[in-house]
Amino acid sequence: MLPDSTSSSTAVVRRIITTVLFFAAVSLSCFVLYRASNSVGLRFLNSFEPSPPSFTYVTSPVHEEAPQDSAENRLDRVLKDASMQDRTVIITTLNEAWAAPNSVVDLFLESFRIGDHTSRLLNHLVIIALDGKTFSHCVVVHTHCFALVTKGVDFSQEAYFMTPDYLKMMWRRIDFLRSVLEMGYNFVFTDADIMWFRDPFPRFYTDADFQIACDRYYGNPVDLVNNIPNGGFNFVKSNNRSIAFYKFWYSSRNAYPGLHDQDVLNKIKNDSFITKIGLKMKFLNTVYFGGFCEPSKDFNQVCTMHANCCYGLDSKLQDLRIMLQDWKQFMSLPPYLKRSSMPSWRVPKNCSLDSLRHYDQPGKHVLQG
Ligand SMILES: *[C@@H]1O[C@H](CO)[C@@H](O)[C@H](O)[C@H]1NC(C)=O
Ligand SMILES: *[C@@H]1O[C@H](CO)[C@@H](O)[C@H](O)[C@H]1NC(C)=O
Ligand SMILES: *[C@@H]1O[C@H](CO)[C@@H](O)[C@H](O)[C@H]1NC(C)=O
Repeated sequence: MLPDSTSSSTAVVRRIITTVLFFAAVSLSCFVLYRASNSVGLRFLNSFEPSPPSFTYVTSPVHEEAPQDSAENRLDRVLKDASMQDRTVIITTLNEAWAAPNSVVDLFLESFRIGDHTSRLLNHLVIIALDGKTFSHCVVVHTHCFALVTKGVDFSQEAYFMTPDYLKMMWRRIDFLRSVLEMGYNFVFTDADIMWFRDPFPRFYTDADFQIACDRYYGNPVDLVNNIPNGGFNFVKSNNRSIAFYKFWYSSRNAYPGLHDQDVLNKIKNDSFITKIGLKMKFLNTVYFGGFCEPSKDFNQVCTMHANCCYGLDSKLQDLRIMLQDWKQFMSLPPYLKRSSMPSWRVPKNCSLDSLRHYDQPGKHVLQG
């Protein structure tokens, strides 16, 4: 079951709508028969005298959505449509502040288009909209959208770091991703403020259940002590170990009240439970998976760049735009200059200034949503 607290009331509404649609469809077909009867002389149908049906209600959902269609079925359909052959999908979550025109999601999608052979990956990207307005915007700009709306929580606004709504949003995400694993899909989870410049799949470890990008990377992919992971980007294989791990991670929120998923991950990453279930965890090198905390230095190797270590949406947008320009500039170079010139990012600019002013602890995932 999807842990969707709105699902029961949604199901009731859906049933009512489906019933209405059913009768609309029935009355439409009666109407059609009635009209037909006039021409072929089946006068007995006249007694039905159907009221004119409301055509606008008779739409494809009558056929597409069975009465028992649940959130889980709908999610399964979206995932199936977006899935690669090996049941891998790319997932991001989005709320209204990041989905507005000229906001984060536009830059995110643009990065796929201007990246090096990354536009085909858009076919495998599922955007999880955390509110209704975001869902409406999603279907305009992207093919694979799913609405994950949580009753009683407004995720639509910019959720400031560590406010109660921010924490709820982060934990909702972990619980949701667990259900994706249970449905048998591997996923790359990516924050929308991560720019995709190259296909990351060739850089993933083949022998890890859970691999995660870092704010700070200390050179050893299995070093649990020093590496500082960032929950905004990870690749997780669906298996019993990863499902058990996500359940453990989610339930650990009770042991560390007030902490968000990433800080709790730092607490539990060395827990004996993980050894017991045999989960293989690895950390991704910032050479390929960089960010403002620790930028990838090599334009010829970078796969993704995260606007981490950044406080405030305006600063983030500003620096993301500069970063996309830097990339376009690089892509326009002739091949020999791509290899020989050593371009560097002009960012972080405002992000670094602001993060120094507001928040100087390194290695934190500063703002989401
Ligand atoms: C998970 O464990 C069950 C029971 O031990 C087993 O039947 C199943 O095949 C496992 N699934 C995966 C994906 O490893
Ligand atoms: C991690 O766990 C191992 C084995 O339980 C232990 O030896 C080590 O000290 C732990 N490291 C940290 C930083 O807790
Ligand atoms: C970026 O920083 C500069 C210098 O502090 C400031 O003038 C400008 O308004 C900032 N821009 C944004 C979008 O925050």
